[in-house]
Amino acid sequence: MRKPHLTAIGSGKGGTGKTVIAIALAQALVKVGARVLLCDADLGLANAAIQMGLGESGDLPSFIAGLKPLERSVVATAAGFDLLAAPSGSGALANIGPLAAESLCAKLRQTRGYDHVLLDLSAGVDSAVMRFAARADTTLLVVTPDPASLTDAYAFAKLLQKATGARLPQLVINRATSGTEAEQTLAAMTQTCRAFLRQVPQLLGTVPHDRAVHDAIRRQLPLLSRLPLGPAAQALQEIGSRLNEIAFAPALAVAAVR
Ligand SMILES: Nc1ncnc2c1ncn2[C@@H]1O[C@H](COP(=O)(O)OP(=O)(O)OP(=O)(O)O)[C@@H](O)[C@H]1O
Ligand SMILES: [Mg+2]
Repeated sequence: MRKPHLTAIGSGKGGTGKTVIAIALAQALVKVGARVLLCDADLGLANAAIQMGLGESGDLPSFIAGLKPLERSVVATAAGFDLLAAPSGSGALANIGPLAAESLCAKLRQTRGYDHVLLDLSAGVDSAVMRFAARADTTLLVVTPDPASLTDAYAFAKLLQKATGARLPQLVINRATSGTEAEQTLAAMTQTCRAFLRQVPQLLGTVPHDRAVHDAIRRQLPLLSRLPLGPAAQALQEIGSRLNEIAFAPALAVAAVR
């Protein structure tokens, strides 16, 4: 069995849509046939389970402490993926620190039975967040057209480049109200990174501002279950397919030839 592809989803600024996107991407990957684990690595303020209306969220603290194996630490969701989180509202893993983040990544990487592990990160750029981001195979940076989001996204990109020695995150532009706004957001990130980091981040995709997202959260249902054909859901399905290709295109290409 192959190793899972680890994808970390960060943003710098809070409230940009990391959790919405992490859940929707988990669903999108399930829809293309992948086995998916979503790890709520927003360790102090885990809320992925709340967004999905789940009573249980798994036992991430026991998994980290080595007290339970992964299969007894996760919960299966109706959306088809497994969730690994600390109990909501427990704050059990606040201040986990960079070394614990690193060891969690290593443990998740050793697991078998999943094609993708998605890490929904905390807001900010503290050392634990950046360690998760740097240890992932793919790092997604969720940025909105809000100027503060752009500034914090640049800080995230700069720290990731420093931590990895080379790599910039892949951008997901969220809550764009028009194609022009999305293009301006991409141009602002591209110009700043080119000027100061001498590298340009790739765009993985754009998710439009969509009232259906708010509606799904209010009803505590995953977006792709609530309104799979809405504009945000469709965009996230496409981004999920692209992520799957990035992760496994060589393997898929070989399989197609056989
Ligand atoms: N594409 C979108 N269209 C409309 N609203 C959106 C969209 N994406 C996110 N939102 C809104 O943004 C809010 C914050 O989303 P979410 O909780 O996923 O952000 P977050 O980055 O995980 O926040 P935190 O930093 O607190 O973890 C949601 O309640 C939702 O209403
Ligand atoms: Mg969140």
